[in-house]
Amino acid sequence: MKSICVIGSLNLDMVAAVERFPQPGETLTADGYSVFFGGKGGNQAVALGRLGARVKMAGKVGDDIHGHDYIRHLRMNGVDVGGIGVEKGAATGTAMIWVDRQGENQIVVSPGANGHMQPSDIDAMWGELVQSDLFLFQLEIPIGTVAYAAKRLKQAGKTIILDPAPASQLPDAIFRYIDYMTPNETEVRYYAGRQERYVYQLKEAAGSLLRRGVGTVVAKAGEEGAYWIREAEMTRIEAFPVQAVDTTGAGDSFNAGFAYALASGLEAEDAVRVGNAVGALSVRQVGAQSAMPTREELERFLETHPGRITI
Ligand code: RIB
Ligand code: NA
Repeated sequence: MKSICVIGSLNLDMVAAVERFPQPGETLTADGYSVFFGGKGGNQAVALGRLGARVKMAGKVGDDIHGHDYIRHLRMNGVDVGGIGVEKGAATGTAMIWVDRQGENQIVVSPGANGHMQPSDIDAMWGELVQSDLFLFQLEIPIGTVAYAAKRLKQAGKTIILDPAPASQLPDAIFRYIDYMTPNETEVRYYAGRQERYVYQLKEAAGSLLRRGVGTVVAKAGEEGAYWIREAEMTRIEAFPVQAVDTTGAGDSFNAGFAYALASGLEAEDAVRVGNAVGALSVRQVGAQSAMPTREELERFLETHPGRITI
């Protein structure tokens, strides 16, 4: 089993359940409110820890109660916290989230300590980082740091997975260092700069990413499943039907499942199917991390659903 390192964000998620999203200027009363650990980086690391992967987290929390709690929470979920720094004078990142009755969400993130993750931090923890084989990035820490780390790690022979979320301007030079890029539909539209029908646009958008140097595009399409796109090849891997309560973090769970499968030696469509399964299982409860499966739960789920794979 290869070891995995997540370099990314750690947020506290403040989640209000709403009947529908508010209009500009409107005040709504929430049906309920809870606070969860979140952030795309932390979500991916916790999902991997629950699955029993060898996983390390690199990132920054603030010097506040939430930051110290988050570090403890990661440890309890089997995540090596050797790459986490506590940023003096900064607050732990925060996400304000509304979840409606369909399980859809709207999110506003205040980066706090995540915004202090610099290329010099990558240099400072280099000895710790190079011990891992596979690296997962998202875009909730400064893009310059992501680009710098991806380049250095790729040049050191590592495998790089980029979840390009939230959609943000990327430097052109980053693409050739990415082995797997995992946009969702919104991000595909953003990177393609178009609003056409998904499959058509997806082929085009993926084509342009591949031409710029990305190894494989794995496009997440929610209830449609996910697409595996490399060179002229494009395959759709079906989603598992589940009742969505809260889709927050489903993409992170997908990425964790996909990386876990790659680290276990699965490839292509099989790895995507594991990503789909972990993503599907994660939406059953409110909170990004609440329903992330253990390895046993994942195995049971895969056994009882068609298209069986053994992990
Ligand atoms: O991907 C879901 C995550 O996005 C949430 O946990 C929230 O923190 C935001 O960063
Ligand atoms: Na969830």
